[in-house]
Amino acid sequence: MCGIVGYVGKHPVTRVLIEGLRRLEYRGYDSAGVTVVKDGQFQTLKSTERVEALAKDVAKAKLQGTYGIAHTRWATHGGVTLANAHPHHSSDGLFSLAHNGVIENYLKIKKFLLEKGYTFQSETDTEVLVNLIAYHYQKQPVAADKNRFLESVRRSLRHVEGTYGIAVICKEHLGEIVAARRGSPLILGVGDGEHIIASDVAAIALHTQSVVYLNDEEIVHVTDKDFSLSTIDEDDIEAVIHTVDWSIEEAELGAFKHYMEKEIFDQPVALENAMRGRFSDDGSTSKFGGLNLSPQELRQVDRILFCACGTAWHACLVAEYLIERYARIPVEVEYASEFRYRNAPLDKNTLVFILSQSGETIDTLGALREAKRKGHKTLAIVNVVGSTIAREADGGIYQHAGPEIGVASTKAFTSQVMVAAMMALHLGRIRDMSYSEGQAFVEALKQVPAQVQSILDQSEAIKAIALKYVDAEDFLFLGRQNLFPIALEGALKLKEVSYIHAEGYPAAEMKHGPIALISPECPSVFLVAQEDTYQKTISNIQEVKARKGRVIAIAHEGGDFPKDLVDDLILIPECHPAVQPILATIPVQLMAYAIAAARGCDVDKPRNLAKSVTVE
Ligand code: M6R
Repeated sequence: MCGIVGYVGKHPVTRVLIEGLRRLEYRGYDSAGVTVVKDGQFQTLKSTERVEALAKDVAKAKLQGTYGIAHTRWATHGGVTLANAHPHHSSDGLFSLAHNGVIENYLKIKKFLLEKGYTFQSETDTEVLVNLIAYHYQKQPVAADKNRFLESVRRSLRHVEGTYGIAVICKEHLGEIVAARRGSPLILGVGDGEHIIASDVAAIALHTQSVVYLNDEEIVHVTDKDFSLSTIDEDDIEAVIHTVDWSIEEAELGAFKHYMEKEIFDQPVALENAMRGRFSDDGSTSKFGGLNLSPQELRQVDRILFCACGTAWHACLVAEYLIERYARIPVEVEYASEFRYRNAPLDKNTLVFILSQSGETIDTLGALREAKRKGHKTLAIVNVVGSTIAREADGGIYQHAGPEIGVASTKAFTSQVMVAAMMALHLGRIRDMSYSEGQAFVEALKQVPAQVQSILDQSEAIKAIALKYVDAEDFLFLGRQNLFPIALEGALKLKEVSYIHAEGYPAAEMKHGPIALISPECPSVFLVAQEDTYQKTISNIQEVKARKGRVIAIAHEGGDFPKDLVDDLILIPECHPAVQPILATIPVQLMAYAIAAARGCDVDKPRNLAKSVTVE
């Protein structure tokens, strides 16, 4: 959470910083602020509103400078106030700092600094860090070499417990920015006579496609023409410059009103991209370039553990159903935040899969590191290329879903499920799945983009259904087997964007408690599978109708679904059972979006949330 950006170079600095903040705002939007340097002085403006409000203030004040730093905040320490907004200055006025992360021992450091006479204006942990830097700066001899600024940051960070991505500037070292990371992402964009530091490539790609991904415990000293990379422990590092293939156009809203809507409609292309080049020539299995595991090694795996958070965790649950059914390998699914502290006993032949759209979620990263520490092979399914999880996993698969900007994950979810289905096929084919079953599976996957498009073509009808329920304050989402995770995902999507209370359950589990909620005021969305549990789910619908509950059913075409039993029916194409979770997701996404938009909610930036959760 929180986005930071720093720029030194030939372009007007406020424009670069504000544009960077716009592209990082998904990381937090409680407040925003900017510090630029003009005539050796800090010019700082902050707003407790969104980046657009800050942009207006910056334009009105005609704020200009030669270089600077900026921040968009997701509040942790202290409420949403101007005093708590970043950048923070040291009490001697020499330093300004933007920070993403949490300084866990800030109270101890604050006490120490208060005793030394430093003063504080905010409740934040960040202001403690900037004053600690000022303290270490003053402790060094004035005649210290040109590295005095860099050294004071380095020394301060050695005393810090917790996480940080920081960008710091100093009035006595004009034209320099020092940035460092531990646990929070930080990327350096390397341009021609300019450098930009940011939490995400999105803020950099407008200027340059050449980037250096900082690793934990690394610190970079930057001027317009040069940069030097080293560790907090002072070891010099040879920077590796990567070229990012990041298209600005993909992140533009186009004709859509919200990113969530755009990203729902991006799904046919995202799903196509997840499959591109990943089927064997004989069309009977899938292949992945980056697994770094041979079929022989994969054959040794006798258990798989999936770890993730939020929506990605729901994709893991679908993966569990698919891999157990088609590859016959036992699968467990853990919340990453629980796994990393649970010390679960894992058999040595357990393969650990990590799922993350952003590749930066701190709990998921923690789970990956814990699994690696215990000697397990780790594979990651990640969307953001070059993200920390992608770089640290032993191997992995990129989703290629394109940038996902809306805080509510949509296309990343269906693309994760697509990759999971392809993995189930891959693992199945090196075990007991036959050639013809493999071919049928591949054919089914290839049809998914067109099937998703056909559901999107019904979006107006689905919206009309959703709007009948716009005033409900509670919803149930019910499904069985591999549609149970979609019930969870439907409930999460609705609650995060519309603030309606919603719960997802296995449809049969409803009788064990949630049925008490059923009333005309609490609608139920039933996800009806084509096979196995079809009749059982119809019986569950009967139970709800008998209690005067309103029911929206999502069922497959071509069946004998009793239309009159339900209040509203959404039909999705007949399909292979492995892909029904993807198809069933589209209507619940469209419904959540339509209801939230109709309720006037801030769909892309729901209250209290941030897209990339980089604090524990
Ligand atoms: O980037 P990640 O996939 O690791 O993010 C995990 C969750 O934070 C994320 O899916 C979150 O639950 C979304 N807001 C759901 O829409």
